[in-house]
Amino acid sequence: MSCRMQFCRMVKPQLLAVIFISILGHIQVDCFSFNFPTFKQEDQNGLILLSEFSRIFRDAIQVTPDAYGEDLRNRSGRAFYYKAYRVWNKKKNQTASFNTTFVLNISPDTPSNPGAGEGLAFILAADRSLPPNSHGRWLGVVNSSTNGTSGAAVLAVEFDTRSNSPEDGSDGHVGVNVNSVYSIKHVPLLPLGINISSGTNVTVRIQYDNDVISVFGYMMSGAKAQDMKLLLQSPPLNLTSYLPEKVFLGFSASTSNFNELNCIRAWEFNGEDIGDGNQELLWVWITVPVVVVIAGAVIFFLIWRWKRNREIAEDAYPRIEDQIKYSSMVPKKFRLREMKKATSNFNDQNKLGEGGFGKVYKGILGNREIAVKRVSKDSRQGKQEFIAEVTTIGSLHHKNLVKLTGWCYERKELLLVYEFMPNGSLDKYLFGSTDGSPYQNLHWETRCSAIYGVAEALDYLHNGCDKKVIHRDIKASNIMLDSDFNAKLGDFGLARTIQKRNETHHSTKEIAGTPGYMAPETFLTGRATVETDVYAFGVLIMEVVCGKRPGNMCVQNDYKNSIVYWVWEMYGNGRTLDGVDRRIKKEIEEDEERVERVIVLGLACCHPNPHKRPSMKTVLQVLTGEVAPPEVPRERPAFVWPAAPPSFNVNDNSINSAQLTPPFTQLTGR
Ligand SMILES: *[C@@H]1O[C@H](CO)[C@@H](O)[C@H](O)[C@H]1NC(C)=O
Ligand SMILES: *[C@@H]1O[C@H](CO)[C@@H](O)[C@H](O)[C@H]1NC(C)=O
Ligand SMILES: *[C@@H]1O[C@H](CO)[C@@H](O)[C@H](O)[C@H]1NC(C)=O
Ligand SMILES: *[C@@H]1O[C@H](CO)[C@@H](O)[C@H](O)[C@H]1NC(C)=O
Ligand SMILES: *[C@@H]1O[C@H](CO)[C@@H](O)[C@H](O)[C@H]1NC(C)=O
Ligand SMILES: *[C@@H]1O[C@H](CO)[C@@H](O)[C@H](O)[C@H]1NC(C)=O
Repeated sequence: MSCRMQFCRMVKPQLLAVIFISILGHIQVDCFSFNFPTFKQEDQNGLILLSEFSRIFRDAIQVTPDAYGEDLRNRSGRAFYYKAYRVWNKKKNQTASFNTTFVLNISPDTPSNPGAGEGLAFILAADRSLPPNSHGRWLGVVNSSTNGTSGAAVLAVEFDTRSNSPEDGSDGHVGVNVNSVYSIKHVPLLPLGINISSGTNVTVRIQYDNDVISVFGYMMSGAKAQDMKLLLQSPPLNLTSYLPEKVFLGFSASTSNFNELNCIRAWEFNGEDIGDGNQELLWVWITVPVVVVIAGAVIFFLIWRWKRNREIAEDAYPRIEDQIKYSSMVPKKFRLREMKKATSNFNDQNKLGEGGFGKVYKGILGNREIAVKRVSKDSRQGKQEFIAEVTTIGSLHHKNLVKLTGWCYERKELLLVYEFMPNGSLDKYLFGSTDGSPYQNLHWETRCSAIYGVAEALDYLHNGCDKKVIHRDIKASNIMLDSDFNAKLGDFGLARTIQKRNETHHSTKEIAGTPGYMAPETFLTGRATVETDVYAFGVLIMEVVCGKRPGNMCVQNDYKNSIVYWVWEMYGNGRTLDGVDRRIKKEIEEDEERVERVIVLGLACCHPNPHKRPSMKTVLQVLTGEVAPPEVPRERPAFVWPAAPPSFNVNDNSINSAQLTPPFTQLTGR
């Protein structure tokens, strides 16, 4: 993901804009076009290149001018658009089709003039310069020496106002000329309703397509295409044989003794750009994939961000993944589909159990058996627990802790993946399964090793790992048994870590846990501490030894119902062993002293005063027989809060008071 992020950082809006503009630029070049609805003085020799006697005057190009008030006879002139146009492409063997529309206006100089002359032409020319001596009949297209030669390199559509020879046709005709003033085809205009030299605007449209020129016209300015009459259509022009690939587009005109004003009032041009062959193709081959890739990346990024935002909106929590990622030692992240496949889509037949936070399923991943805890979707509490569990248990490694191998958070599904515990949880062996059917008995040695294993795990959590971890939910149903009946502490749903550096802060606020295992002070302080874990461990010892449920009470007055009260009473009467599970009574006959020691240790752990409870270190020493169990009063002391501080004068070295939480320290949760 970080790689993806970097890529997205590269795709800045500026970069996209540059790419977009260059694409647009390229598209614009694909079409060569310009439009002059009228001409302005400043176009002169900027956009429009004019020969010596041509002018832009009164919003029009005067190709041959009247702007000087001098003799206008025997003049010729040319006007071109400043950029050359590629009319054909040798490499591609292609000609460019184009359309151009212009408004011409030819008016006789004076009414007394014997007749208008000579005419005006739209030309495509290799050379921008005006041929010398191209006035008179030459129309500025050629001169007497270039007429009819390939050196002229010019294609013209002429509007000839005066006939110079019989083959020229009548006065006022349109013709198509190649390198010559003689037309390959011409048509008289008067019969078509156009008096070309009447001083009236004439709209002309010239279309070049498939090497054929078509000329349309209408006697008014701004005529619509549908009003126009087809004046002339040329035969195929073989244009590539006499014009260079790039030509200039424009007009030429001339006068002789017969005089007229030759004007262009408006001009629009639209032509195909057939480009530079390979270079253009190269451009396409490079840009198209780049654009596709970038667009794909952007879309991908947008979708990813949208999904992420939606997840956050749904969730109000900071992203679970981020929280987990920054914790140390990350367990593997699985995909939801893998988990669905492993558990046959969370089939009820694979259900191992059900707890407060969801259901646990058995799964097969590859050839490995796993247990998948599916945190119930509607529990908001569950998400926080989920994070706690992944971050806590994922960084812990102990032979008596259930190993978390992976997790998954997708589409609001929270899943935790554990190593599979073939023998299930301890409570079933102690109390029978929920439907009441009896379960296999656990031998005294197995029970002892379970107690010892859990004690080791708790000592590791409290004192052995980098962070101090309070489990908060020690109970028989959270103790799992592997194939050799080794006990492993599981279900870290309620665990909280506390940085070791802040020694005073090893408590966490938030009432949680299981009634019956909760130390009495919990109901007052609402805090979980290492001492409340020790209390729950004490309850566990009694359960394991007596095979009896802890009793269900939430209020301190109800302690009479609890296993703690029950065992304590027997201990007070000197009949400690009376409570031992009937199923192991026979086995323990040779080991009664040890059983009693374990029971007394359990009672010490359940001392109502948290300061009197032994640490897990001491618990381990008692279990191995290194030290005697702490002394326990014959009668269960009353619960007093605030608890009396630990006494230092008693030579009770079995309780390491330095391990205990000072009573009035301001404690902060988590
Ligand atoms: C214009 O040119 C023609 C021949 O090209 C010539 O006969 C005529 O005298 C010229 N007229 C003027 C006014 O120079
Ligand atoms: C160019 O194209 C024309 C038809 O458009 C074809 O007749 C001619 O053979 C082509 N020339 C080459 C060199 O490909
Ligand atoms: C020229 O005009 C015709 C008819 O309006 C149109 O079909 C054609 O695409 C145009 N050609 C160009 C190059 O603009
Ligand atoms: C005709 O024009 C060409 C250049 O286009 C020039 O070289 C030649 O001298 C001109 N001929 C006459 C008779 O002026
Ligand atoms: C063409 O227009 C001019 C100027 O208006 C006029 O003198 C001339 O008679 C017209 N020609 C025809 C054939 O209508
Ligand atoms: C174009 O070439 C064809 C055959 O090559 C020819 O018949 C035709 O007259 C030519 N057209 C022009 C305007 O030169």
